[in-house]
Amino acid sequence: MNTNAFETYESVVRSYCRHFPKVFTEAKGAVIKDEDGQEYIDFFCGAGAVNYGHNNSYIKQKLVDYLTTDGIIHALDMYTVPKREFIETLEEKIIKPRGLNYKIQFCGPTGTNGVEAAIKLARKNTGRSNIFAFMGCFHGMTLGALSLTSEMYARNGAGASLNDVTHIPAPYMFEGLDVIAYMQTMIDDDHSAVSKPAAVVMETLQAEGGIRPFSDQFLRDVRAFCDKNDILMIVDDIQVGCCRCGTFFSFERAGIQPDMVVMSKSIGGMGMPLAIVLLKEELDKWKPGEHNGTFRGNQLSFIAGTASFEWLLENNVEAETRRKGEIVREYLTKEILSLDSRLELRGMGLIWGIDFGKIDASLTENVIEKCFERHLICECAGRNGSVLKIMPPLVIEDELLKQGLDIIAQTTKETL
Ligand SMILES: Cc1ncc(COP(=O)(O)O)c(C=O)c1O
Repeated sequence: MNTNAFETYESVVRSYCRHFPKVFTEAKGAVIKDEDGQEYIDFFCGAGAVNYGHNNSYIKQKLVDYLTTDGIIHALDMYTVPKREFIETLEEKIIKPRGLNYKIQFCGPTGTNGVEAAIKLARKNTGRSNIFAFMGCFHGMTLGALSLTSEMYARNGAGASLNDVTHIPAPYMFEGLDVIAYMQTMIDDDHSAVSKPAAVVMETLQAEGGIRPFSDQFLRDVRAFCDKNDILMIVDDIQVGCCRCGTFFSFERAGIQPDMVVMSKSIGGMGMPLAIVLLKEELDKWKPGEHNGTFRGNQLSFIAGTASFEWLLENNVEAETRRKGEIVREYLTKEILSLDSRLELRGMGLIWGIDFGKIDASLTENVIEKCFERHLICECAGRNGSVLKIMPPLVIEDELLKQGLDIIAQTTKETL
């Protein structure tokens, strides 16, 4: 295996390859192959970018068909057939049937650019600069999004001050703290030193923050808090949207409609780069080109995205995700939680975390390394990286899911 080119010429900023130091060649469904022909079960899923499986046959065929026609690939934000079909399918098959109502903004094709757009628009609409975000959140690495992201390691890389955000304790952090009352006091108390925010930006389940689902009631309470105080609610569904939690949008379980929703990763169908902001019509106060970008019109991403909507509806992916989630919950409760009462298990749908933090956070890294030796790819998340994150493609076969879980159980037993 030759990794010289990477080690000699690629910036040391590279990261995931350090945990998985192989050269990868092929991928199908939930299996990835390396240059030596070795196969790995994928419990990482491109950090949520390939929910519908690597090289999903239905989606891939649509891309191949389009490529053979000399269809336009790059079109800035000009009108094209793939874009029209993406908009129509997303609106008519996904958004409207859920009783929601949104316009779509296409951003530069990364999650962080979608977050930038959403917070700019919130500030523009309200004339306020402050934003509330929750400790433990991850919203991206460009300066605006990074000012929300709470992880100090990432923030320290900014080299600039990260302003105009107030971080609120997440509801799991202090037992007995009424987080909604805390936020209300911050904006009512003329000695709080905190200005009223334009928006509350949140994940419904903090993923990088350590697989921390917020309760349905808490999501409804934030919605009510925002309504009461004329503050916008922005849900970052970049990682936990696209069926990951068992419904297309992660917030559906709470029966709420956020004012804006940011999506990326699996919205591009098969790992194709795409980011969008869904926004309530009355918030669409942009001037033309005010949030611009060259790569807001990748036609292959539109085609893959549209195909993914068709495919996920046809294949009951939401219900299947919930069913497989129960398999994971039952397995881990029986085989892992029983090993040590200090272990914690959190998650829903097909995103789960085993928290080793109450024993020793460094165990997680050991488990992940040994899992990789046994050909399972999984990552860590959370404070001090104490949480082993389980996030397979939603299409994973039951048998393969079980095999991956067996590797985690065996490795955890040995490590403990
Ligand atoms: C919740 C959340 N928001 C934003 C981002 C940033 O997305 P990107 O890496 O595409 O900029 C991520 C990436 O992991 C994420 O998980």
